[in-house]
Amino acid sequence: MTDTFPALKISPSVYWVGAIDWSLRDFHGYSTLRGTTYNAYLIMAEKITLIDTVKASFRDELLARIASVIPPDKIDYIVSNHSEKDHTGALPEIIKIVRPDKVFASTNGVKALSEHFHLDQELTAVKDGERISLGNTDLAFYETKMLHWPDSMFTFLNKDGILFSQDAFGMHLATSQRFADQIEESIILEEGSKYFANILLPYSNLVTNLLEKVGKLGLNIQIIAPDHGPIWRKDLAKILALYSGWAEQKPTRKAVVAYATMWESTAVMARAIGEGLTDGGAIVKLMALSADHRSGIITELLDAGALLVGSPTINGNIFPTMVDLLYYIKGLKRMNLCGAAFGSYGWSGEAVAQMNSLLQEMKVELVSEGIKSRYVPTKEALEECYSLGLKVAKRLEEVCGG
Ligand code: FEO
Repeated sequence: MTDTFPALKISPSVYWVGAIDWSLRDFHGYSTLRGTTYNAYLIMAEKITLIDTVKASFRDELLARIASVIPPDKIDYIVSNHSEKDHTGALPEIIKIVRPDKVFASTNGVKALSEHFHLDQELTAVKDGERISLGNTDLAFYETKMLHWPDSMFTFLNKDGILFSQDAFGMHLATSQRFADQIEESIILEEGSKYFANILLPYSNLVTNLLEKVGKLGLNIQIIAPDHGPIWRKDLAKILALYSGWAEQKPTRKAVVAYATMWESTAVMARAIGEGLTDGGAIVKLMALSADHRSGIITELLDAGALLVGSPTINGNIFPTMVDLLYYIKGLKRMNLCGAAFGSYGWSGEAVAQMNSLLQEMKVELVSEGIKSRYVPTKEALEECYSLGLKVAKRLEEVCGG
């Protein structure tokens, strides 16, 4: 009989047994226009081991893929590299069905799994650098605390040289191909950078340290197997170099101008600023909050050097979608930006000062005290906007060099 949901062999002893979520469009506030996958892996060693599980609603797909290789109750061990529910939602049910001898997680992982699921199964905590035997090979565990949860860890399978990296090096991308080298490079770059910007950016320093640590360990990594999106089996240096570059948060001569508008006045100001930036030699990305999602804007900021934000004043405040954006970016801690605020107003005009405060809290270097324009911008106001664009472009040139 044909297996409806077959496993895919990715190395001599490992199968991909995950699930493809083609229709996911929102991952806790991150817009996932290409869906995602929840990757889980079955190691066919003497001690048969499952690495991670899937979101609860995909439990049957996981079980079916495992069953295409072995009856699920033959699994001896389960390893949980990361407690977030996209990888553990199915875990309690899988434990009941499989009845594994042991479930391994980091010390923080054991706590997090207990607090999420209140399991009857005893969990075994493993330390950074600890190894366990699978009979004919072994697994080594490496803590990756705060990449991106306190519980996160990597697991390395010596025999096949596979680094199971949970969220790291992953992306939200549902495809029928399982390997990165089978997918168009522009899509890999777009979704890989979006994932880094929306999930890992606040922990950039830790990413840099981790890459150094992995280098020093001298592991013979042949495959990087993340928990989302495609698996890396070729050109591993490329994804490692991309992570290293993104984590640097180096400014470039690119400016993101994000704005909300009520009656197009702030939009016209944004366009005039964009013209000044362009004429000053910057690369410009104008993003209207009515058209662009916060997760796309932070992705554009990943390789930018300036952030300019525009909002009208509404009821004495910043427009709500701009508040959403600023708090989202603040949480993701994009460093090394310069910028400014601008906006139209009718009678009170608080929004620019409020945006300035937030930009300062975000450690954005303010190039100007901002521009306020009453009702519909005059020719002079638009000239001021154009000049602001030129000024920010000049600052980018100073910071980044010509
Ligand atoms: Fe894919 Fe942090 O969970």
